[in-house]
Amino acid sequence: MSRTPLIAGNWKMFKTGSEAVATARRLAEFASDITNIDIMIAPPFPSLALVSENLKSMSSRVNVGAQNLFYINEGAYTGEVSAKMLKAAGVSHVIIGHSERRQYFGETNEDICRKIKAAVESDLIPIMCIGETESQKKDGKTFYVLDKQIQNGLQGFRSNELLTLVIAYEPVWAIGTGNTATPEQAEAVHSYIRSEIEKMFNSNLAEDIRIIYGGSVKPDNISELMSHKNVDGALVGGASLDADKFIKIIKYNRIK
Ligand code: PGA
Repeated sequence: MSRTPLIAGNWKMFKTGSEAVATARRLAEFASDITNIDIMIAPPFPSLALVSENLKSMSSRVNVGAQNLFYINEGAYTGEVSAKMLKAAGVSHVIIGHSERRQYFGETNEDICRKIKAAVESDLIPIMCIGETESQKKDGKTFYVLDKQIQNGLQGFRSNELLTLVIAYEPVWAIGTGNTATPEQAEAVHSYIRSEIEKMFNSNLAEDIRIIYGGSVKPDNISELMSHKNVDGALVGGASLDADKFIKIIKYNRIK
């Protein structure tokens, strides 16, 4: 299998500029011997350029991601940040449609589709987050919800525009709760997502696309999650804030 694992840290609304730089530098030192995994950290907007300059000066392979973007390049949109600005700040990846953005900021699948388009046009790697809530799961609607998120989020794309796309399956009930999906649950959903990508696009894209898992990933559950064939990495929240902890996740036992 040729998919390079991606271990990504979502720092959410944590860390000032100096705290972000200190954590990023520590992580870069720990990760200096790692070559076979893509690593990304996503600090808040004000730290992006600073963190990326620091990592560059260390010749680190740790990538910098943003947690959101707006889909227009520039204009009178107070408080928003565009793909072009992220790119100029040294950002390579962008998380799109995180459940907290869907839940607290009213992001719809249509917004997410436009954001992915903006990312692709600026040559940023989009990480599209999808996942069902606890009540949707209880009502047996998991696959229905995922279908809608995938179909509407990726509507109108040609497969060759999505070659770098990463899909993050993040069941909302698992985020920040300590209730990780079992590796078997994650594998079953990831394999379903891959089959949806095949139906919507083609088998080449389905085979190449990285599908990562998020929701209470920790040093002690990452290896088992990663042992499954359709789990290509992790999007880590809480456990990515501490470089010592995050590096343990990055250095999981490779048994696949
Ligand atoms: P968590 O967050 O690892 O703290 O559960 C994951 C995420 O929200 O991406």
